[in-house]
Amino acid sequence: MKVTLQKQENLSGDPSVATQGFGRVSHEPAPMFDPVREIDAACAFFDAHGYVVLSDCLDAGEIAHLNGFCDRTQAERPLAWGLGDKRKPHHRNQGLIYSQPLLDYPELDRYTRHPRSYPVVCRLLGGEQHARFSEFNFRETPEGAGPGAMNFHHDAVVADRFNRTPYGPPDWLCAIHYLTDVEPGAPCFCVVPDSKRQPSLKAAHDALGNRYAEVPIRGPAGTCVLYDTATYHTRLDGDGEKMRRTWHQYYARGGWLRSALPETSRYVRPPSPVLTDWNLFPERLAMSADPKTRLFFSHWNTAQGEWAASGFDPDVRKAMPRGEQ
Ligand SMILES: [Fe+2]
Repeated sequence: MKVTLQKQENLSGDPSVATQGFGRVSHEPAPMFDPVREIDAACAFFDAHGYVVLSDCLDAGEIAHLNGFCDRTQAERPLAWGLGDKRKPHHRNQGLIYSQPLLDYPELDRYTRHPRSYPVVCRLLGGEQHARFSEFNFRETPEGAGPGAMNFHHDAVVADRFNRTPYGPPDWLCAIHYLTDVEPGAPCFCVVPDSKRQPSLKAAHDALGNRYAEVPIRGPAGTCVLYDTATYHTRLDGDGEKMRRTWHQYYARGGWLRSALPETSRYVRPPSPVLTDWNLFPERLAMSADPKTRLFFSHWNTAQGEWAASGFDPDVRKAMPRGEQ
């Protein structure tokens, strides 16, 4: 892989702003796969590298609908987006985020198992019976936002990832759909391929040697990146001027897995733990009359258990973090 060493400079002079990795940035674009025609190759690439890029996952109507949704809700509920005087402290310098839009907007339900990306997600998690919903949000780096403060990190992980055999299926997957064109100059998602079993970015850098690369993912609106949450990644800063909007959805693996090892050394993998202790699922989905939908929304945390026990009382929700209405 052709990489260029880019000197990492903190132009802002602000020590809280990230320097973003080792600067071994790949100039070869990540391959893109059609999620229907090339599902086998896409899954093989993901299994090998811990991420995959899927092309044309949203059509023009869906891109317009989701951008319209973001515009509308930023005007209707600015505080939910972290706009206005009361910016959310946990997203300062990280752009805007609208957490948990599913709670109040059934118009988004149809995206949660999207016909383009969801079959790939199911295949990677071991089949549709193992796919579970974790979280859904929208994020935006506004125009003229300046440098961000995100460095390479992994999301939720399970400790047995270092040595379990086989490694797969992953514990969690995240799907990022670009809602705006991500061209050079725009902030973009960036991964370190083959890093999912490394305890730190430095360990990945040392272990991968010349194979270590930071791969920026660019593509038109509608592009989807699927990544194993154990894979190191960041939002790479752009020129500080261009905006970017994304839809992020996390999936977990459900069901118990037994390894094929001999009885004495056999291990069992339980369903993935809950991703957060605060994320809530709306009653219409968590208590759906459709058993498949109930199973998909069955990874409840204790906050969800308490909310369900209250009969989905709006005051109970309001008392929870990010429970704004
Ligand atoms: Fe992350």
